[in-house]
Amino acid sequence: MYGLVNQGIRKMVTQSFGEETWEAICDKSGVEDVFVAMEPYPDEVTLSLVVAASEVLGLPPEQVLHAFGKWWIGNAAREYKGIFNMTGDSFQEFLGNLNSIHSRVSHMLPKLTPPSFKITDQTDSSLVVHYYSQRQGLSPMVEGMIEGISEWFNTPVKIELIDSAESADHAIFHVSFG
Ligand code: HEM
Repeated sequence: MYGLVNQGIRKMVTQSFGEETWEAICDKSGVEDVFVAMEPYPDEVTLSLVVAASEVLGLPPEQVLHAFGKWWIGNAAREYKGIFNMTGDSFQEFLGNLNSIHSRVSHMLPKLTPPSFKITDQTDSSLVVHYYSQRQGLSPMVEGMIEGISEWFNTPVKIELIDSAESADHAIFHVSFG
C-alpha cells in the first residue's frame, strides 16, 4: 500500500498514544519508519504494523483495523476536503459514490490497487454495502470507515456484517439508519 497509509497508522498512533508507543510498534514489527507518501510499499509492511500495534496496545488486530478505518475517514475528510465535498451531501449519496474517490486519487497514485463497492437494497432507512478487494482481512477496517462516514454526516447507523453464501468472494454489510 502507498506510504500515505502507513503514515496514517503512525499519525493515528502518535496522536492517541504518543511517539514512544509508535517507536515500540516499529521495533516490534521490524519495520523502518521512512515512509514516503507517494511510494508504494508491500502490503506486508502495513500488515506487520497492524500486528505489532495490536501486540503493543493489547488489542485484537480487528480492533486496530476498525479504529484505523474510522480515524482514516476523519483525517481524510480534512486532508482531502475537496474530494469529500464532491462525493456526496449525505451519508447515502456518499456511500453510493465511494468508487469515485479512488478513481480520483488514482491519477496521483498510478500503482493503486483500490477496493470497489456496490450499494444494493436501498430504502429510506437502510442499504447494503458490498465490498470487493484483492486483499484479505480488511473488513473490520471497512466497518470502521462506514462508521466514520456516518459520523461525518451526523447520521447514526447500525452496521451488521452479513455472513452469507454470496459473501464468499466479498464482504457484505447491512447498514440501517434513521
Ligand atoms: C480522499 C480520500 C482517500 C484516499 C486518498 C484513499 C487512498 C487509499 C490508498 C492509498 C489506499 C491503499 C491502496 C494501495 O496503495 O494500493 C487505500 C485503500 C483503501 N481504501 Fe481508500 N482512500 C480514500 C478514501 C477512502 C474511503 C472514503 C473509503 C471508504 C470505505 C476507502 C476505503 C479503502 C479501503 C477499504 C482500502 C483497502 C484496500 C483494499 O480493500 O484492498 N478509502 N485508499
